[in-house]
Amino acid sequence: MQEIKINSLIVFAFAFASVLPILKGNIIPDSNEEYWVKRAAEAWNRTLEAYEPYPEKIISHLNVNAHRTLKETGLNLGLNGTRRQLSKGYNGPCKATNPIDQCWRCNPNWANNRFRLADCVLGFGYKTRGGKGGRIYVVTDNSDKDLLNPKPGTLRHAVIQKEPLWITFNKNMVIKLEQELMVASDKTIDARGFKVHIAHGAGITLHMVSNIIIHGLRIHDIKPKSGGMIRDSMDHFGQRTKSDGDGISLFGASNIWIDHVSMTNCADGLIDAIMGSTAMTISNSHFTDHNEAMLFGANEKHTQDMKMQITVAFNHFGKRMVQRMPRCRFGYIHVVNNDYTHWNMYAIGGSSHPTIISQGNRYIASSTQKFAKQVTKREKSPESEWKQWTWRSEGDIFKRGAYFVESGEAKWYSKHPEVFDKIKAAPAELVSEITKFAGALGCKIGEPC
Ligand SMILES: *[C@@H]1O[C@H](CO)[C@@H](O)[C@H](O)[C@H]1NC(C)=O
Ligand SMILES: *[C@@H]1O[C@H](CO)[C@@H](O)[C@H](O)[C@H]1NC(C)=O
Repeated sequence: MQEIKINSLIVFAFAFASVLPILKGNIIPDSNEEYWVKRAAEAWNRTLEAYEPYPEKIISHLNVNAHRTLKETGLNLGLNGTRRQLSKGYNGPCKATNPIDQCWRCNPNWANNRFRLADCVLGFGYKTRGGKGGRIYVVTDNSDKDLLNPKPGTLRHAVIQKEPLWITFNKNMVIKLEQELMVASDKTIDARGFKVHIAHGAGITLHMVSNIIIHGLRIHDIKPKSGGMIRDSMDHFGQRTKSDGDGISLFGASNIWIDHVSMTNCADGLIDAIMGSTAMTISNSHFTDHNEAMLFGANEKHTQDMKMQITVAFNHFGKRMVQRMPRCRFGYIHVVNNDYTHWNMYAIGGSSHPTIISQGNRYIASSTQKFAKQVTKREKSPESEWKQWTWRSEGDIFKRGAYFVESGEAKWYSKHPEVFDKIKAAPAELVSEITKFAGALGCKIGEPC
């Protein structure tokens, strides 16, 4: 999580003077505050624009497509195949087990048509196109030495450009970020074809930006950083406060899709979305070794998070996970066809009356934490209050004593037949297949991925 930094003019002017020689005269010294006020107004407009008044339509669209894929691949015939097998051990022909993957993965020419990926997103992030139609920018240099005038060829130089860009890599690399990576709007970071790690340094920040795809990164061991002067766009830089060590931090961000990312062991959250962040899908990702995984909404005073709509689909929450998968305030969260194989405290939590629709997930409680069987956790409200919140479980399966405490209107299902009667989620019995390839893929150029 970040806070908006309001500089004292003196501190800012001093810092500005020290970097003046390398600027090109495009920054007004005291413009930082004014700049972010304007950016905040634009971001809020985008949040309002992205809001779906009938979220159940987005839910059923995803579920219909998940069923279609199972039918087309014949997977629905093989129910009961619930043992989790690592995709690493899989040597068979390309197999796409959910509709997002089916849209692109098994085409051997995926690398010649990378934009195709942008047509594959489902869920609340469904309008995200990232850098589709823009130039391809190839990152060739893993260094991150200059935060104000990043070197061409580096990831930092790519993400601050104003135009839409589809960002790829020319080799395997580990990028250790000196400070948070401030990504500008209309970008795709596409690591397919190489092993690209964002590790041992700062994380990725999506601050009041929109239309961003993050695909195939391995994000781990992210550390807090002191902050300082950071360029966030070709025509702006400013002072940033300390970053907490989140893997991906969203602040007033909209139309965001995070797909096939592997995330492990970050100092703060893995993915935190706050301050009206919305229209987001997190899919096909693999999460391990982490305490507080996903925070959606950070404060009960941030009522702009009532507009938050997020889909969490086809992910694997794996080894040594503890809590917040996700933890929600306000907002409408669809959690569908995920495999929860470890949690030491709880899986899904919330406060400030979020709506949580859990469908077709597999929840396996820990065999060692005998007081952590409950999937759900309500915080900061007495039962008389949380009884009103809409938290529903449909078609989920529960193992080792796991259980989901539902709340809200008992008739909620019949009020939304489009979700619960006509179109159910893909069966939870198939979740280990649906999520079999979660995490960063080992795609080879010229072969099905
Ligand atoms: C936000 O939207 C309103 C109404 O459409 C418009 O008048 C205003 O100029 C917009 N503000 C920004 C900063 O884009
Ligand atoms: C799945 O398992 C259930 C219970 O063990 C059994 O009744 C059912 O026939 C099995 N289905 C298939 C397709 O094997």
